[in-house]
Amino acid sequence: MANYFQSLLLLTIILYTTSMTLAQAPAPAPAGPTNITKILEKAGQFTTLMRLMKNTQLSDQINTQLNNSNQGMTVFAPTDNAFSTLKAGTLNSLSDQQKVQLLQFHVLPIYLTTSQFQTVSNPLRTQAGDSGSQLNITTSGNSVNITTGVVDTPVSNTLYTDGTLAVYQVEKVLLPMSLFGPPSPAPAPGPLKKKKAGSDDDTPTTDDGSASADASGGVVCGGHLHGIYVGVIGIIAAFYL
Ligand SMILES: *[C@@H]1O[C@H](CO)[C@@H](O)[C@H](O)[C@H]1NC(C)=O
Ligand SMILES: *[C@@H]1O[C@H](CO)[C@@H](O)[C@H](O)[C@H]1NC(C)=O
Ligand SMILES: *[C@@H]1O[C@H](CO)[C@@H](O)[C@H](O)[C@H]1NC(C)=O
Ligand SMILES: *[C@@H]1O[C@H](CO)[C@@H](O)[C@H](O)[C@H]1NC(C)=O
Repeated sequence: MANYFQSLLLLTIILYTTSMTLAQAPAPAPAGPTNITKILEKAGQFTTLMRLMKNTQLSDQINTQLNNSNQGMTVFAPTDNAFSTLKAGTLNSLSDQQKVQLLQFHVLPIYLTTSQFQTVSNPLRTQAGDSGSQLNITTSGNSVNITTGVVDTPVSNTLYTDGTLAVYQVEKVLLPMSLFGPPSPAPAPGPLKKKKAGSDDDTPTTDDGSASADASGGVVCGGHLHGIYVGVIGIIAAFYL
């Protein structure tokens, strides 16, 4: 009888240790190159941004750039709510080129931690480049604001940091002066591309990006299942202990 319990205890300990080891496996960041879409998907409430990034291929660009640069990158991610509170027609009034510019305005070609927000020198150059596409970061205590000259909005949450890429949540779409500032008389609307009438990749009201969400739903689900499996072993082990 004693022997029986001894071996049962041993078995339990082995099972339990194994389950502990397994339980730690899903915790680290996903292997492979950084994937901005995956990060936003995991954060939730960024479907509009994800769709726009996909349509303008900015997500590919960011992923490639992250893989090839050592400067790192900072992305300000407006929530779905931020996009839905834009004045009606704001996105549709933009050409494809301008949409790219708007999105690039949310990306800084340097990695900034929250503590670096306190010391950055304004104005900051964005991926959108030219003058009129710069933004300022202002801080007061621990609160951080982004000011573009058109909008002023707090940085409300840190979604992701890994030493190379930082993603921060903002509650408003960052509108650059170059696109939304008061019209300057000198440069005529030369660079404005003629709006493509039949353009179909930019209908924000209908496409909710569910395809991509579904695609990775499986991955997320798999992870959870694995966790549940491990959890069950743990519970069984704990029960026998
Ligand atoms: C990035 O993640 C998205 C969503 O999970 C996926 O559809 C896409 O294929 C991934 N891209 C790369 C380059 O792995
Ligand atoms: C990342 O960079 C490495 C080396 O520069 C390259 O071999 C690899 O294909 C790149 N991966 C992606 C997803 O761009
Ligand atoms: C941030 O912006 C809000 C308005 O959106 C303002 O009330 C607040 O004072 C600003 N804070 C900083 C640190 O600039
Ligand atoms: C940004 O900061 C610079 C330097 O302090 C200042 O000249 C500029 O007016 C600021 N722009 C905005 C939009 O606040």
